[in-house]
Order: sequence, then structure tokens, then C-alpha cells
Amino acid sequence: MTLRAPQLDFDPCDELAALCKAGGDALRLNVLRALSNDSFGVLELAQIFAIGQSGMSHHLKVLAQAGLVATRREGNAIFYRRALPGGRLHAALLDDIDELPLPGEVQARIATVHQQRATVSRDFFARMAASFQAQQDLIAGLPQYRDSLLALLDALQFTPDASALEIGPGDGAFLPELARRFTRVTALDNSPAMLELASQRCAAEGLANVELKLADALQDEQPPADCVVLNMVLHHLATPAEAFRQLARLVAPGGSLLLSELCSHDQSWAREACGDLWLGFEQDDLARWATAAGLVPGESLYIGLKNGFQIQLRHFAKPIMRPATRYGTQGTHP
Ligand SMILES: C[S@@+](CC[C@H](N)C(=O)[O-])C[C@H]1O[C@@H](n2cnc3c(N)ncnc32)[C@H](O)[C@@H]1O
Repeated sequence: MTLRAPQLDFDPCDELAALCKAGGDALRLNVLRALSNDSFGVLELAQIFAIGQSGMSHHLKVLAQAGLVATRREGNAIFYRRALPGGRLHAALLDDIDELPLPGEVQARIATVHQQRATVSRDFFARMAASFQAQQDLIAGLPQYRDSLLALLDALQFTPDASALEIGPGDGAFLPELARRFTRVTALDNSPAMLELASQRCAAEGLANVELKLADALQDEQPPADCVVLNMVLHHLATPAEAFRQLARLVAPGGSLLLSELCSHDQSWAREACGDLWLGFEQDDLARWATAAGLVPGESLYIGLKNGFQIQLRHFAKPIMRPATRYGTQGTHP
């Protein structure tokens, strides 16, 4: 008599059971909480929750099997983020998790991880200022997308007294274009070495309406501007999703955020050679983060480069808030 292996049928309850199992653990719920607006590698999560890497890998596997986290390869590292809710229980679980505060020590360790990322970026620009242009040209230099960016900018039609803010101007190559189009231009960079290059450019081109500031785009307060420009900077920021909230604050109501960025890629050498913290971004992620920050996605242009990289030029508008009505409602103009 031959013995047959038992038939393993798919049970419709399996997915729900995996979700309940994954959700039945306080640490895993806190991991989901930490991933609400960020993505972390397994080592970062092990550091944040003060447990070993293999323990954290186990928890992430359970969360992934339940469809609660999705992965993204960033060079040699795998980054985890929340998956989009696939059902009502999943959505309700995330809603409830978001009501809970993360333990103080976990928040402190998340801040440490963010600082470590930011330090890598700052150190790179401090070291590389002398060879800045060569570094930029390795992937995507301004000449490759300047005209398309200007087409996007000029279609926006700002008023004659409008102001512009460029974040991370690098050697200031885009500042002459902004200075020609806006009454007042502010450029802020957290690298003294890069600001020095930008300052030399402003002096050489006689840009009298440009003010340069040494400041961190994510931490330092700054008055809002009608047009905020960010060229090839987001992939150097420690917390890109969170950065959108700060960027949205920097855009005046009715104003615009213009962003030039790399599309998601797998060229991990860019981390070492160009100090990139992130290997580009998915188009949908940028739109989702911007929308969550109260911005409205507008026109976008995509430019393929001969070296295989692709650039995304994105416009996000900040709606003008309507004044409160006597019924107490607030809304936004379409
Ligand atoms: C790759 S360079 C881009 C320079 C220029 N926008 C371009 O496209 O040629 C990134 C710039 O962003 C600056 N930067 C990085 N993180 C920053 C931060 N948190 N706040 C302000 N500037 C930052 C760097 O110092 C550097 O000048």
C-alpha cells in the first residue's frame, strides 16, 4: 500500500490567521508603528528595538508573511516599510497602532538612527566639495535636466513679487535661473563647504537678490516661499517621507514645490561614490508622501539618461486654505 502525502489546500482563513499571528505581539506592533512614515533596514530596526539582528529578522519575516510589511532592496541592504492595507482588519490595525505613542526610548533610538544617516551625508559634502561637479556628473548633472526643469517652472507663472527658496543648492548652478525669475531668492545648505561654492557663484554672476544661509532643511525654521526647489537633494536626506512635511511647511499657500530626483535604481556604488543615502525613489512614493503632507501632485516629467539613470521632475502645489466659515469648516480651493 502506498501512502499519499496529505493534500495541502489553500484555506481562505490562512491570510487572516497570518495577520492575527503577526499582530499578536507587542514588539511587532511597535515595529509597524515605527514604520508609519519611514523605512528602516534590519540592522537599524535591531538597533531601534535593542534586540539582536536574528530576532528582528524573525519578526520581520512574520510581518512580511502577513502582508504587513513590504521590502525594498537598497543596494546590498533590504529596507522594510509598511505595506498598503489589503483588507479591513489590516487597515483597522494600522489605524489603531497609529493612535499609540512609541515608547520614549524607541523614539530616542529612532532619532539616533536619523542622526547617523544625516552625519554620513554631511561628512560626504564636507569631504567632496573640491570635486563636487565631477561627483554630480557621475549620475545626473544639472545640464541634463535644466531645460526640462525650467519648462516646468516657467509654466507655473508666479507673480512678479514672488519669492523662491532653493534647498541644497550645491555649487549654486541653478541660482542664476532663480535670481532672474524671482524678486527674492534664499538658498539654504547645511554644508559650509558647499555654501562657499554657491557664494563664489553668486559673486561671479553678480546675483544681488540671493541670500545664502547655513541651515538644515529638516531642522531649522525658515519663512515660507512661493516656490521651493529641491534638485537632487532628497536622496541625501535622512528621512525623505518626513521631509515632505517640513517641505510643505516651507511652501507658502498657493505656492509650489519643484523637485528633481532620481527614479528608483539599483546602482549601490552611488552610496560610496556620491554619498547617496537612498537609491532614488518610486514615483508613487513621492506622490503619497506629498499628499500626506497636504500637497497636490501636479505635472511631472521623466528624463532617461544614457548611463541608465532616470530623473523625475515633479511639481507639487500647496492649496490656498479657505478661511473658516461660520459653520466652522475649512477646505482647500481646487
Ligand atoms: C547632490 S547635492 C545637489 C546640489 C544641487 N542642487 C545640484 O543639483 O547640483 C545635495 C546638496 O544638498 C545639501 N544638503 C544635504 N542635506 C541637507 C540638509 N539636511 N539641509 C540642507 N542642505 C542639505 C548638500 O550639502 C548638497 O549641497
